[in-house]
Amino acid sequence: MGLQRHDEVVLLLGAPGAGKGTQARFLAATLGIPLVASGDLLREHRRRGTCLGQQAQEFMDRGELVPDALVVDMILERLDRSDAAAGALLDGFPRNVAQADVLDARLAQRGGAITVAVYVDVPTDVLIERLAGRWMCPGCQASYHEVFNPARVGRTCDTCSGELYQRADDKREVVANRVEVYLRDTLPVVERYEGQGVLKHLDGNQSIETVKKGLRQAVGLGAAIAA
Ligand code: AP5
Ligand code: MG
Ligand code: ZN
Repeated sequence: MGLQRHDEVVLLLGAPGAGKGTQARFLAATLGIPLVASGDLLREHRRRGTCLGQQAQEFMDRGELVPDALVVDMILERLDRSDAAAGALLDGFPRNVAQADVLDARLAQRGGAITVAVYVDVPTDVLIERLAGRWMCPGCQASYHEVFNPARVGRTCDTCSGELYQRADDKREVVANRVEVYLRDTLPVVERYEGQGVLKHLDGNQSIETVKKGLRQAVGLGAAIAA
């Protein structure tokens, strides 16, 4: 673990269904840094049946946050891998103020900084419509929507040919709880980074292409770079 690293960390913040996962892979690839998505990592643990995956399951299925004691170590361990030495794009972390404290302390220790935290803003009624029609790829974690962003062929992932599935936590009553948890626990994190002067607001209630352009600009890449 090298203490002289200078990490540049980019955060994607936004409610469940705001479009973080839809944009995250392209953004990480464009920035040349790995994507570290806490929800994807937890789903991977569940699929592998690890102890962490089994412990996380009941919280995820209820739309509650998985306890910090489980999530924080998973993320710090991921950020310590060599491919994240120059930075990472974080999707889904930090999710509450305690997690933000840990991240800020870790970056301070490494002489790193949050370059930009992009807040993708979408009205609640739109979030619910998006999550109700979402289909996910178990292989590469790509997000599709049966109306807004359908796969080219049936229920098969365009990128890796995985068979798409619907997330158990996209049931209406679980979605409502996820949105509540987000408003209670995660909005204070958005306000924290606003206070630190690194927050960029982005209207996420636009087409996927328009949001993509907005993201490029928000992270300082301009709009002209091809996806
Ligand atoms: P996580 O996987 O992070 O879920 P989430 O935050 O609820 O966010 P989503 O993945 O639902 O939304 P998204 O913004 O990625 O939307 P997407 O791009 O897919 O977390 C899941 C669970 O894990 C949590 O509930 C918790 O239990 C646990 N967890 C994770 N991190 C944790 C942490 N740090 N601490 C504790 N617990 C943690 O898009 C949604 C849909 O909209 C798709 O169908 C997509 O095609 C469509 N869409 C996207 N953009 C557009 C657009 N511009 N126009 C039209 N449709 C669009
Ligand atoms: Mg996601
Ligand atoms: Zn795939």
